[in-house]
Amino acid sequence: MSHTTLPKIELHMHLEGAAPPAFVRGLAAEKGLRLDGVFDERGHYAYADFNEFLKVYEAATAVLKSPEDYRRLTREVLARAAEHGVIYTESFLSPDFCGGGDVGAWRDYLAAMQEAAAEAEAQDGITMRGVITCIRHFGPDAARPIARCAAETAGDFITGFGIAGAEMVGRPGDYAWAFDCAREAGLRLTAHAGEWGGPDMVADTIRDLKVERIGHGIRAIEDLALVDQLAEDGIVLEVCPGSNVALRAVSSWQAHPIEKLRARGVKVTISTDDPPFFHTTMTHEYDRLADVFGWNEDDFHDLNHVALDAAFCDAPTRAALA
Ligand code: HPA
Ligand code: ZN
Repeated sequence: MSHTTLPKIELHMHLEGAAPPAFVRGLAAEKGLRLDGVFDERGHYAYADFNEFLKVYEAATAVLKSPEDYRRLTREVLARAAEHGVIYTESFLSPDFCGGGDVGAWRDYLAAMQEAAAEAEAQDGITMRGVITCIRHFGPDAARPIARCAAETAGDFITGFGIAGAEMVGRPGDYAWAFDCAREAGLRLTAHAGEWGGPDMVADTIRDLKVERIGHGIRAIEDLALVDQLAEDGIVLEVCPGSNVALRAVSSWQAHPIEKLRARGVKVTISTDDPPFFHTTMTHEYDRLADVFGWNEDDFHDLNHVALDAAFCDAPTRAALA
C-alpha cells in the first residue's frame, strides 16, 4: 500500500539537503559554475560515506548564492513535500551558508524563505517553520554568530535552534553558549546526536545543551537505562530511517532500532533528513516502515500525533493542524 495521501508531520529536514539535483544543476548552469565531484553518472548525489556526504552537501550548497536562490529552493522543496502529504515541516536553516552569520544578511535570506513558505501555505497547504542550525564541524566560535542570528530573528516562523554536521567533532558542552543564547531568546532546542556518537553523546547532549528533542538518537539503543530515561523524560527522537540506511549508520531497514525504541516507550517521529541525497520521501519512509515492521494506519496516526505534539510551533498553529 502507498501512504502518499496520508497527512504527515515532519520535524527534521535540512533545506539545502532537500535540493533536487536538477535544481542544483540548473542554478549552476545559470551562474556558469562547475560542480566537480557532486553527481554520479546517473545525476545522483555521489558520496561513499558520511564525511563525503558532508563535502558534497556543502559543494552543492555553494551554488545557492542569493536570497532569490533560497526563495526558489524553499518553494520547490515545499511543493515536493506537499506532494507526499506533508502538511507541516520543520526545516533546518543554516545562516553559515546564508550570509556567513551576519545578522543583516541573514534577515534578507530569511525574508525570501518566508515569502516562499507563505506562498506554499496558500497554494499547497503545507506549513513550514524554521529551526536555525549551527554546524558542528565549523566549531564553537562559528556557532556563536549563528545563535545570535537565531536569537535576533526568533518569532512565529523561526521557532527553534539546533546543531548538525560532523557529530564526532568536539563535545556537546562546547556549544553550550550558543544553546543558552538561543534558549534565552525563547527558542526551542534540538540537536543531532546518537547518529554516529554512542549513548554517552546522547546523554551529554541532553545534560549540557538541555534539548527537548534529539536528531536521530538511534544509538541510544545501546544503553537500555538511557532508553528508559528518554521515555521517562519524554525526549522526542527525530528518526530518519532512510537516511540511516543510506549513510550506513545502520546495516539495513530490518536492523533499524526504531521499533525497539518505540516499543520501550520512547517518543519517536519520522523524517526524511535530506530526501534526494537518500533517495527517499515521506511516502517512501512510511511504505518501508509498513513493509518491514508491519506498521499500519493506526501506528502512523499515533506517530503524527507525537510529532505534532513535539512540533516547535505555537498552539494556534498546532490546533489548526490537528
Ligand atoms: N547528519 C548530520 N548533519 C547533517 C545531516 C545529517 O544527517 N544532514 C545534513 N547535515
Ligand atoms: Zn539531519
